[in-house]
Amino acid sequence: MLSRIFSSATIGIEAKPIEIEVDITRGLPNVVIVGLPDAAIRESRDRVKAAIKNSQFEYPSEKITINLAPCDIKKEGPSFDLPIAIGILAASGQIDFNILKDFVFLGELALNGKIRPIKGALPIAMSLKNSRKKLILPEENAREASIVEGLETYPVSTLSNVSNFLKGIDIIAPLSPDKEILLEKIQNYELDFSDVKGQFLAKRAMEIASSGNHNIIMIGPPGSGKTMLAKRLPTIIPEMTIEESLETTKIHSVLGLIPAKSSIIRTRPFRTPHHTASDISLVGGGTVPKPGEVSLAHNGVLFMDELPEFHRNVLEALRQPLEDGYVTVSRINSIVRFPSKFMLVCAMNPCPCGYLTDTKKQCHCTPNQIQKYMSKVSGPLLDRIDIHIEVPSVKYKDLSDESSGEKSEVIRSRIMQAREIQLARFKDEGIFANSQMSHKLARRYCKLDDASRDLLKIAITELGFSARCYDKILRVSRTIADLEGKPDIWPDHVSEAIQYRSLDRNMWV
Ligand SMILES: Nc1ncnc2c1ncn2[C@@H]1O[C@H](COP(=O)(O)OP(=O)(O)OP(=O)(O)O)[C@@H](O)[C@H]1O
Ligand SMILES: [Mg+2]
Repeated sequence: MLSRIFSSATIGIEAKPIEIEVDITRGLPNVVIVGLPDAAIRESRDRVKAAIKNSQFEYPSEKITINLAPCDIKKEGPSFDLPIAIGILAASGQIDFNILKDFVFLGELALNGKIRPIKGALPIAMSLKNSRKKLILPEENAREASIVEGLETYPVSTLSNVSNFLKGIDIIAPLSPDKEILLEKIQNYELDFSDVKGQFLAKRAMEIASSGNHNIIMIGPPGSGKTMLAKRLPTIIPEMTIEESLETTKIHSVLGLIPAKSSIIRTRPFRTPHHTASDISLVGGGTVPKPGEVSLAHNGVLFMDELPEFHRNVLEALRQPLEDGYVTVSRINSIVRFPSKFMLVCAMNPCPCGYLTDTKKQCHCTPNQIQKYMSKVSGPLLDRIDIHIEVPSVKYKDLSDESSGEKSEVIRSRIMQAREIQLARFKDEGIFANSQMSHKLARRYCKLDDASRDLLKIAITELGFSARCYDKILRVSRTIADLEGKPDIWPDHVSEAIQYRSLDRNMWV
């Protein structure tokens, strides 16, 4: 007998419907799985056999052929265990065929018939919205999928549980979307900007960077608080909208990173890839394309600590996602696009020993070593970073100060106001922040008075700034003016923006 079961697979971060056909005919007992399965799916024949037997069903000792259609898509992972088992039970007459067509099944089986969680529940649920199909999912994933309105999601825990539900013996209530989560405004950040003592210049630069969505690099001696500052950045960037949350959750869901029984991600991601990371782990890829760190940081922050320690090819690979806001991975039979709009935050020491700019400790590096160290990050990557700041060692006076600084909440409210101004300004331009202004837009929206123009002239002729930082200074000046709610850029905005070009001022680059 032949049975047909519906399931789904994720390709990139999109879901594709998969049909599983199970045919049982007389012949020597044998199981064949066709339709481009990977090793995990091929192994499912043993898991499914044990799960069926251990759930008190009968495993047919005949010839079983399982086809995963469409046959030109590579399928991977153990999430087809449950639909294959249901297909075998239906084809051997142990479950009624007719009710199966309304359901989509997903789940990995344990040998005792228990159902284990799968990856990609949210993109699959989103693809089934308004399809009139009902989704049967492992209970660990069901809450994540239930966020999609217009879809009935049934959480299940064992194979017998599914069979009893289909036969009408067990009643399972579909999960309804958790409205509270969607409306939740409170962000569960444990860190706060007020933890960082002193470092007023760095904090100010962080505020400007977050307001205009500018990428930022911090340079300073060890222990000056660079990592500490960066980790607190998500607490001041504007809150995620529901659309942003869903986009980010989809990417995390494909890698199975949503904690069991939780639904969507409401706090901005903060990703900190280690400097030994490969280019594929950073930008995504693999035989079956998977998102990398830049996509996991989508709508959040990508923090690259110890920047010069990263391999050069890894830094080069960052250029395209930084520019376009997405990564395209091409394979022979698929082209996958992963979104990757993130704010890049980098930290580094000024030299290999770290103490070149320190006033107390002596640096032991030779000019040659310093040159070599700094040259690793020069050029095109630096070109995409608007704000460079030096973070000096913290003074004892600041460290011992018991009064706490400004809370993240206060800083965030100022940033939100500056964002509103930018959103209104760019409503017809297709961008949302000052950092995204093209050369043409920068000229249109950053008009300077004579005094400001003179300042910029001095910066370029006397301080040796390159022409390419002209636009960057304009964009940052615009953000500083927006933070003050000023429609025009004033000379003090420009002079502050010039301050944030420390790498151009120094001999290093
Ligand atoms: N401004 C500060 N206020 C309070 N504590 C600080 C400050 N700066 C540093 N610290 C303390 O020093 C520790 C180390 O700081 P952090 O890791 O941020 O240094 P870093 O600049 O990233 O150093 P490295 O260059 O070695 O990575 C922090 O965990 C914190 O306890
Ligand atoms: Mg650090």
